[in-house]
Amino acid sequence: MTAPTRLTIRRPDDWHVHLRDGDMLEAVASYTARQFARAIVMPNLAPPIISVASAEAYRTRILSALPTGSDFTPLMTCYLIDRAEPAELVRGFESGAWAAAKLYPAHATTNSAYGVTEIRTLRPALEAMQRIGMPLLVHGEVTDPEVDIFDREAVFIERVLAGVVRDFPALKIVFEHITTAEAVAFVEGAGPNVAATVTPQHLLLNRNAIFADGIRPHAYCLPVAKRERHRLAVRRAAVSGSPKFFLGTDSAPHAVEKKEGACGCAGIFNAPYALEAYAGVFEAEDALDRLEGFASEHGPRFYGLPLNEGTVTLERSGTVVPDRLPAAGTSLIPFQAGETLSWRFVA
Ligand code: NCD
Ligand code: ZN
Repeated sequence: MTAPTRLTIRRPDDWHVHLRDGDMLEAVASYTARQFARAIVMPNLAPPIISVASAEAYRTRILSALPTGSDFTPLMTCYLIDRAEPAELVRGFESGAWAAAKLYPAHATTNSAYGVTEIRTLRPALEAMQRIGMPLLVHGEVTDPEVDIFDREAVFIERVLAGVVRDFPALKIVFEHITTAEAVAFVEGAGPNVAATVTPQHLLLNRNAIFADGIRPHAYCLPVAKRERHRLAVRRAAVSGSPKFFLGTDSAPHAVEKKEGACGCAGIFNAPYALEAYAGVFEAEDALDRLEGFASEHGPRFYGLPLNEGTVTLERSGTVVPDRLPAAGTSLIPFQAGETLSWRFVA
């Protein structure tokens, strides 16, 4: 069979993105809005998005950062803190201000200092979310410094997530940016109310990439890339056609000077060529016919939202990813900088 030269799929969504705020928001919003109809916007600003009023104000700032004529829809999330107030969650979800709530274990990642230290203080919040069908989005890593960084996701399943699923059996849960065979097995073994997002970087990189000929800050994100066998397990799940796995880029821009330094920030900026990166993976796995499900159908079905109308098209073309992109008075280094991609997003 000859390889296709064009690929048209239903308009996709990004179920996990960091759009930031201020000048950085102005610089990055259009990359996501160009490829995706909707995105789940992470609330880890400083300070985080905790109240309905702050979510609405942030949503307005996102809309004003979009190019004129854009119909992109940001789906806002609530940042969970210890003893999160069930009434505020219900009010925000039922009014449409929030699409979901995000659990960051305190200090697990960028801007998570306000995160949850004691999961049991969330019981009333989780009960309310279960009752109203509000999804819980989980950054699944323990923060115990005694746990090896490469084991933090698997240990989180044992210590935290398994208990949440047991105690709230009808709660919708998205295990975000999964990186391990253990996470794949957990999601596959759970009910239809448990799903996962998968990033391009965790489909393409294993942990060797972080240390290839020297330390590579632009391959560093959290959860950190794992061994090759884990990458292969995540890849198999993503292309399997299972409705439990869907697209979430975790695009997380940090200015180049914050990435390249003695203590570089975690986060990979993949928004400019996100669909191209996923298409390359699905093609390599001989699963291009399943890209549409992963990118455009499984997510909305899980969230209970309508599928997008309209389509997007990718063309075969040797696009070279730029080495850097100007943003907010500095530069961002895009994922796969300098590499040649086999697909190009056209419209
Ligand atoms: C994210 C960020 O920079 O906000 N970083 C990352 O490495 N993924 C936070 C997160 O999702 O963990
Ligand atoms: Zn993230």
